[in-house]
Amino acid sequence: MSIFNSNNTSITMSLKLQASDIPKDLSGKVAIVTGAKSGLGYQTTYLLARAGCTVYLAGRGEAALKDTIIRLTTEYAELSSDHLHALECDLSSTATAVASARSFPSDRLDILIANAGIALQNDTETSPEGWEKHFQTNHLGHFAFITELLPKIESTAETYGSARVVVVASEAHKFISGIDFEAIRKPVVPGLQGLVGCMKRYAQSKLANIMFAQELDRRLKAKGQEKVFVAAIDPGQFILPLGAIATNLGGTGEQLGYPEFIGKAVRSFGRLTMFSDREGAMTQTLVATAPQVVEQKLSGQYFTPSLTWLGRWDYSKPDELKPHASDVAVQKKLWDVSQAAINDALKAAGMSLQNAS
Ligand SMILES: NC(=O)c1ccc[n+]([C@@H]2O[C@H](COP(=O)([O-])OP(=O)(O)OC[C@H]3O[C@@H](n4cnc5c(N)ncnc54)[C@H](OP(=O)(O)O)[C@@H]3O)[C@@H](O)[C@H]2O)c1
Repeated sequence: MSIFNSNNTSITMSLKLQASDIPKDLSGKVAIVTGAKSGLGYQTTYLLARAGCTVYLAGRGEAALKDTIIRLTTEYAELSSDHLHALECDLSSTATAVASARSFPSDRLDILIANAGIALQNDTETSPEGWEKHFQTNHLGHFAFITELLPKIESTAETYGSARVVVVASEAHKFISGIDFEAIRKPVVPGLQGLVGCMKRYAQSKLANIMFAQELDRRLKAKGQEKVFVAAIDPGQFILPLGAIATNLGGTGEQLGYPEFIGKAVRSFGRLTMFSDREGAMTQTLVATAPQVVEQKLSGQYFTPSLTWLGRWDYSKPDELKPHASDVAVQKKLWDVSQAAINDALKAAGMSLQNAS
């Protein structure tokens, strides 16, 4: 199987990104990791900071973010708190996501990893801005946050040679066949029926993550900006709160109407067969840092992990997208709908509109 890079050159699946491809020295670089308080984001922050990268932990609640920095430096003695900073960021509203981006204090931004996410939320209400909540947090919030920071990302790329945006999506995007532009404005139906609805909405938000990354890459290239690398990734399945149904059934069983023992049983099985959080963090960290992906001009691609026969993370690689995820017309429509949503939210909040994108 072959896929094509931005020069339309066929690349094979032979690129195997190994743990050792994360550069040992990232000092001087500045990164933002959204959703850094737990799971993948926590481990990604560790992997970047271990190499000397300055990392802004973006998430909800300054005190909780500061606690996370203390946890990281306590758990990993090699980390220095001098290189770890809290950036308050609530993606459940596009207005707060933009406000967070505007409060980012550094002029330099080499790496932005859009990792935060929610799954299996069966809220019977939309977000305050009128969007289905998975779509709002996982896609719209990140769209607003990233596009607001784009001028800093581009100026960093111009000054230092390159910058990268990595959007954490999921293979769950294959559960659906496209974006339902009506459903993104409706809440999920509650109860048992809601489980299917939640999965679909989560899948839709992850499809939107991939489409956003592809469209952003295309827009940057169209204006001659080849120094900003953009990619979407799937981290693989692992035991964390977002570990799809296997981990969420226990936590949200009551809400979804399932007995808790089902969740416990599925989680126990999952622990034997799924990734650790460190393994789950590998693909996004590699795509955000490994030199090969830039050297081989793989901006715009989708990356996934490859597993050993025992089901552990082995290496990460570029992967082929199904046609429904690479539909350019839908990607453009999604961009326009998202940009209009942001403009409406900013106007309603009395904030100035975006200059980027
Ligand atoms: N785990 C898996 O098996 C799996 C598989 C495929 C893809 N993924 C993707 O991987 C990413 C990370 O997942 P994870 O398993 O590490 O999940 P996790 O441990 O639940 O972490 C999610 C993070 O997102 C943050 N977050 C949630 N809502 C937010 C909001 N409104 N504003 C800002 N931050 C918010 C959470 O912070 P709070 O504490 O404030 O809620 C948390 O830090 C997600 O994008 C997920 O879709 C995971």
